[in-house]
Amino acid sequence: MSTHKVMQDISVHIERMRIEHLPTVLCIEQASYSDPWSEAAFGKEIENTVISMPVVATRNGAVAGYLVAWLVAGEAHIGNVAVALEHRRKGVGRQMLAWLLAHAATCGCTLCSLEVRVSNLAAQNLYAGFGFRAAALRKGYYTHPVEDAVVMLKTLNPVEEVD
Ligand SMILES: CC(C)(COP(=O)(O)OP(=O)(O)OC[C@H]1O[C@@H](n2cnc3c(N)ncnc32)[C@H](O)[C@@H]1OP(=O)(O)O)[C@@H](O)C(=O)NCCC(=O)NCCS
Repeated sequence: MSTHKVMQDISVHIERMRIEHLPTVLCIEQASYSDPWSEAAFGKEIENTVISMPVVATRNGAVAGYLVAWLVAGEAHIGNVAVALEHRRKGVGRQMLAWLLAHAATCGCTLCSLEVRVSNLAAQNLYAGFGFRAAALRKGYYTHPVEDAVVMLKTLNPVEEVD
């Protein structure tokens, strides 16, 4: 779909997730979360071409990270984003998020929302860098371990966000 290069970030290609990406996606998922999504969960997102936008960031053909978002009623909600350990802190997450925000704005979304663990400062920093603001706390939202979620929101401007 597109290729991004931002400052010192490594260059990745962003495209819709397909079944053949799942082995690597599942490895990254299991290394990234204490409560990982199942293969079936990712499969449902791939099949759902109405509201789901699951994408992978590839480097030299290999999956370096992925992001799953749902675009419904003018709002983009980010359900999952993760980057392989060996590719972290190289701008992969930033490029996937930039792609999603631009895509959502193109689709007419005016808001982007997500939940993030209170303790996950790395992800909160990533989102804050795009202007997301903490808007609410969901008590006990996560399990394994139980933890509150910070709800973060960003208003999208369809004109300004389009590349
Ligand atoms: C959160 C995550 C997706 C970030 O991906 P990434 O590709 O490493 O992030 P980037 O390299 O694009 O970093 C962008 C910015 O995010 C912030 N950030 C990323 N990792 C960080 C860390 N370990 N500590 C502090 N800030 C961090 C920084 O502001 C960074 O910008 P900088 O490098 O110029 O300072 C990755 O750490 C990950 O997969 N974590 C496990 C899964 C997860 O927590 N997902 C989010 C669930 S809500």
